[in-house]
Amino acid sequence: MARNVAVFVGSLRKESFTRKIAKALVELAPEGMSLSFVEIGQLPLYNQDDESNPPESYREFRRTVAAADAVLFVTPEYNRSIPGGLKNALDVGSRPYGQSAWDGKPGAVVSVSPGAIGGFGANHHLRQSLVFLNIPAMQQPEAYVGNVTQLLDDQGKLTNDNTRAFLAKFMQSFAAWIEAVKKS
Ligand code: FNR
Repeated sequence: MARNVAVFVGSLRKESFTRKIAKALVELAPEGMSLSFVEIGQLPLYNQDDESNPPESYREFRRTVAAADAVLFVTPEYNRSIPGGLKNALDVGSRPYGQSAWDGKPGAVVSVSPGAIGGFGANHHLRQSLVFLNIPAMQQPEAYVGNVTQLLDDQGKLTNDNTRAFLAKFMQSFAAWIEAVKKS
């Protein structure tokens, strides 16, 4: 049975490098994973006052997250952390209290940057929230995709064989991680 994996991209930018890497990850995924992008840009800023009558966008987002077998986060780094839109999505999915849609879902994190550090700060800030949300996040291999502008052609496709091999290995490891968490 294919595992249904929800993919969240931290950038809302049309020509986002991060989304291009996310698309490459989807293409490189092994058989047995069915990946779909879940958009986060339409979610209003979380306001706990709305919880008695949440916007339809929150309800739909929570249903989509709850239906996923696993979650993959692919994010740029904003000011050494994750973009606010991604944090907002985490918050929206986590409520109402005691009914978090994220609870127990195996996860993985890929950070992406034009810079050399590969979004390390974003990667680890995200992991801090994942601990609290009880998303068991794959620890190895870690994925810090740095110097991303040098890894993509004009069509947004990967140009570097080593990167392609690494991202394919990452997805194979994630598939195994999902099965290990589901068994535990
Ligand atoms: C950035 N950028 C950035 N890059 C980085 O490596 N570390 C950082 O802390 C930041 N901080 C930051 C803050 C804000 C508000 C913006 C808009 C950008 C640069 C960032 O990596 C670059 O714009 C990427 O292209 C963003 O990813 P996408 O949109 O291409 O996926």
